Amino acid sequence: MINQNAYALGANRSCIRDLFEYGRQRAAIVGEEKVYDYSLGNPSIPSPKEVNEAVRAILSDTDSLKVHGYTSAVGDYETRKAISDDLNARYGVSTQPEEFFLGCGAAPELTAVFRALAVPGGEVLTIAPYFPEYKPFAEEAGLSFRVVPPDVPDFQICLEAVEKRITPHTQAVLINSPNNPSGVVYTRETLTWLSQVLVRKSQEYGHPIYIVSDEPYRELAYGVEVPFVPELYRNTVICYSYSKSLSLPGERIGYVYVPRQAEDSQMLYAAIAGAARASGHVCAPSLWQKVIARCAHLRPDLDSYDRNRKTLYEGLTAQGYEMAKPDGAFYLFIKAPGGDANEFSQRAKEKDLLVVPGDGFGCPGYFRICYCVSYEKIVGSLPIFGELIREYQEKV
Ligand SMILES: Cc1ncc(COP(=O)(O)O)c(C=O)c1O
Repeated sequence: MINQNAYALGANRSCIRDLFEYGRQRAAIVGEEKVYDYSLGNPSIPSPKEVNEAVRAILSDTDSLKVHGYTSAVGDYETRKAISDDLNARYGVSTQPEEFFLGCGAAPELTAVFRALAVPGGEVLTIAPYFPEYKPFAEEAGLSFRVVPPDVPDFQICLEAVEKRITPHTQAVLINSPNNPSGVVYTRETLTWLSQVLVRKSQEYGHPIYIVSDEPYRELAYGVEVPFVPELYRNTVICYSYSKSLSLPGERIGYVYVPRQAEDSQMLYAAIAGAARASGHVCAPSLWQKVIARCAHLRPDLDSYDRNRKTLYEGLTAQGYEMAKPDGAFYLFIKAPGGDANEFSQRAKEKDLLVVPGDGFGCPGYFRICYCVSYEKIVGSLPIFGELIREYQEKV
């Protein structure tokens, strides 16, 4: 007998993966340069050069047994200290190394946090549009997954809708800013209001409702503030990843931050470590822990993402497309001309332009573009977007 939930997850590829695979097949037929694949969020800027230098230095100056050996399950102290020092210097806060748990990227960190919060009947509430993997992460962990409808057209958070959906079983509100797929950064004002709602609701129900802040895009912001959420709400747990900030998605390294100020923080930290243990976590990759110990202060050079962002935003807006202002990450989330994003995506696909319909992000009627591609692709795709919107305009 096979577990049918696990089977369904493995057997049905996500729409994003389907499009990506299709793009590769088309590229083999018509040539890579003729396929405009905006499906997958794989970073297109190299890691800062200091990262590779650190790898080389560690391999040559550190005992091989130490480089490749197991570390403690929570991670090397020096790495946690480097991360803590960096956050303290940036945000004027006073985090401690003991509050960090080094993990293998945001995905397994989120599942560990969800499992740690999965009491019988427990619920996690997230805000649409959201990263589609949240649903299997939460449900496999044992939490009910509930969604707050999108705050159209700005894609901040509709606080009234949050308040209405919080129940006595709500264990956490899961947020992601800068956001995948909208590219929107939640403002300090939005987060302050959210924290006020959660303080009120936690008091009403007599238990903490945590914010789980999923932050793989924290460093990808274009001239706007990305507030440090625990400063605004004490019961915040951060899941951070170096996948996008240092362009290291294949290396699997990040951390969970559980502030001492959070309610039941020591128990929560231990439960996250226990949940990670139960899912087979032994330690984060040892070499990459050592790299982060040397590189936690580095930031990505965002110039090429920013150029792509501006060119697409200005170009598409001029053609008549509508979208929220993309201040962060490397995504645009665009209203589908004609209103049916699946149909739009299909028509775009016929022109070798691959965009992802918003249904899987909890937001039908919109489609997502990942602009972590070359600038030539951005420029080359604009006339195709133009043709597509004209077809819809002529139909009306
Ligand atoms: C919003 C969001 N959360 C989590 C992840 C998982 O990232 P990681 O590579 O750190 O597991 C991604 C990856 O694209 C993401 O977009």
